[in-house]
Amino acid sequence: MQTRNAYVHMHLRGTFVPAGLLTVVEDGRRSSCAFQYGNRYLERADAVPVDPVQLPLAGARGLRFDGPVGGDLFGGIRDASPDAWGRHILDISVDRHGENAGLQLSELDYLLRAGPDRIGALGFSVRLDESPFAFSTRQTATLPGAELDLEALLTAADAVDNEEDLEPRYRRFFVRGSSLGGARPKAAVELDGRHWIAKFDRAREAWPTCRIEHGCMRLARLCGIDVPDTKVVRVLGGRDILLVERFDRRPGQHGTERIPFVSGATMLGYTQSQAERGGSYPGLAAAMRRHCRADTLPQDLARLYLRMVFNAMVNNTDDHLRNHGFLYEQKDGQYGQGSGQYGRGSGQYVRGSGQYGQGSGWTLSPAYDLVPQPIMGNDDAEVRTLSLTIGEQGRLATERHLVESGGPFALAKDEARHLVAGLKEIIASEWEQVFREAGVPSRSFSELRACLAPGLSARPGDAAQ
Ligand SMILES: Nc1ncnc2c1ncn2[C@@H]1O[C@H](COP(=O)(O)OP(=O)(O)O)[C@@H](O)[C@H]1O
Ligand SMILES: [Mg+2]
Repeated sequence: MQTRNAYVHMHLRGTFVPAGLLTVVEDGRRSSCAFQYGNRYLERADAVPVDPVQLPLAGARGLRFDGPVGGDLFGGIRDASPDAWGRHILDISVDRHGENAGLQLSELDYLLRAGPDRIGALGFSVRLDESPFAFSTRQTATLPGAELDLEALLTAADAVDNEEDLEPRYRRFFVRGSSLGGARPKAAVELDGRHWIAKFDRAREAWPTCRIEHGCMRLARLCGIDVPDTKVVRVLGGRDILLVERFDRRPGQHGTERIPFVSGATMLGYTQSQAERGGSYPGLAAAMRRHCRADTLPQDLARLYLRMVFNAMVNNTDDHLRNHGFLYEQKDGQYGQGSGQYGRGSGQYVRGSGQYGQGSGWTLSPAYDLVPQPIMGNDDAEVRTLSLTIGEQGRLATERHLVESGGPFALAKDEARHLVAGLKEIIASEWEQVFREAGVPSRSFSELRACLAPGLSARPGDAAQ
């Protein structure tokens, strides 16, 4: 049994400030953790909770929070830690010589080693006077020559996929990007003074995921869903890299601001295994009523509803809780563009969306990871399901079910019907052009059409009543 401590820092006004102390007792399968906020942090008017559900600020003075049963880290902290891809990179990056022979990285190791590009605004250090990046690779140089480096990155991603040894010069890119979460190969890059997540196509992939994701994000924007900017860069004579602009980094008065981020799993207060078992859109809506900013709540609920409908219509069945997120916006506009940006493209659907409120607190993040999933051989087109529950008929993704499930999002049936019909019309009339412009090859179009089919033509009798 070993007890280890880590200081948790929050990036506020351009610098990391200590927020509290995380204590982890590592005892094989019975590990546990605890967290206590620092008093000075709690006295700050701009303090942001490390986790809105498990670590609320109200009444936190002098309180030691016990971590979730089962040995998980607190959700808000877990969100700053790597997922499958990043863990793999860190595993293969450990120098297992000398005292590290046989070293198995623990949850805390993954957290500490993940580096400066982690999602959100948290940083971690072992000593209070230490930089939150002390445990990660120290290099923070920007990439010289974007094209060349993206090629180098892709070559390195292939090497990882093929279980080849990673050359040290590649390793640093990945260790930087290892905390980004998700399962697909990716890295954090800066291009043209903006921060992006680079997602790589795997070699010989039949489904051109980068282009399809790019097209799907464009289609979502046409539907009034706020999405980050994306672009596809072609390298190595035909391989694609998708660049997604980061919404948790923004230029501000104090240099690059890091915007606090938590996942949908955290907003529900779920442990890792609960999150893996699923979740529901109405559940998320209920959690948002408790923990999100009140002034933007009606818009946020409608925004979530719109995403649920969109996911159903484009067969984005990978809409699990980590593919939904929340950002913390500060009242005094410290994060710059906190308001206004959501108006873009969404005015026609979301009530009162011209002005996105001026308060501070948690709001739904822009949408991400929107990828139509190809239909496998014998899939029955009539029983499409999402990964999150939609309403009374569970995960069943039919038009009627969507229309009947607006209640938890404060939408009357007429409003829900109007939104569903609007999305359906836009998708039907725009999808071909959008995916063509995104460079999706014609060979993928019949499969794409099959993905979108339930949205494009409802089965007789299923049309919304
Ligand atoms: N534009 C973005 N800005 C900031 N964080 C993002 C953005 N897009 C995704 N993320 C975060 O990165 C994680 C991985 O990205 P995602 O697109 O979901 O990759 P994957 O396809 O591997 O699941 C997400 O779970 C989310 O936490
Ligand atoms: Mg994802």
